[in-house]
Amino acid sequence: MPGKSVLARLDKAVDDFCRRTRYFREELTRGRARMFAMQHRLNTRQRNSVLKLKVATNCPDWDTRIGIIRACSEEVIADHAHGRGRAHWEILEDLGTRVGLTRKEIQSAKPIASTQLAWSAWEGLMANRPWLEGIVANTCAERANVPGYGTGIMKKHGWFGLERERWRKLFGLSDGELEFFELHEKADVEHSNAGWRAVERFARQLHMEDAVVVACERNLQVWEMYLNGIGDAGDKGGVPWRDS
Ligand SMILES: [Fe+2]
Repeated sequence: MPGKSVLARLDKAVDDFCRRTRYFREELTRGRARMFAMQHRLNTRQRNSVLKLKVATNCPDWDTRIGIIRACSEEVIADHAHGRGRAHWEILEDLGTRVGLTRKEIQSAKPIASTQLAWSAWEGLMANRPWLEGIVANTCAERANVPGYGTGIMKKHGWFGLERERWRKLFGLSDGELEFFELHEKADVEHSNAGWRAVERFARQLHMEDAVVVACERNLQVWEMYLNGIGDAGDKGGVPWRDS
């Protein structure tokens, strides 16, 4: 795609992801929301305590590296800027208790097969690839929380803006009870802007424009599989790791 900036091509990949992913287009159900709370709590912990830190380790640019570690710390240790000192997975755990799950149920949840597959795929795409591809991997799904991609509510308020709206409708929760989504509308704009800026700065310098676009597309395919997996498992009902 000669003449198109690398950021425009990355934005196109994120826009495609937002438009095609079944999980965004299909109706949210109680089963899906509960499965999301359980799986996404695990996923947040895995990505921010393992996967994104591998990217930081490989990153030679000091400011970018510190930025990744700071963002990971907000996610898994304490977010003082947006989350009143709590980790994001703790805030998600609180949300789970408001949609019919017990804290024990959330805490004893295991990764379903599609979540486990996503982690294995991301291990290959984040730990064993050039660092700039890793930055794209860290950032591309958070980017969907920035308004402008997809259609409808998502285009206007971002992915978590859409989730906030449909969780509010389905469970009758207040804005305060839905803080998990609201805080990401703010935190992810900051985190993903930092990532997108780093990619813009380094892709040309390192002759990696095509490589970062391919990395973005592949990472978002994994996200699509991860989210559709949550939807499918949520539809089946029950708690898969206890049924066997
Ligand atoms: Fe988060």
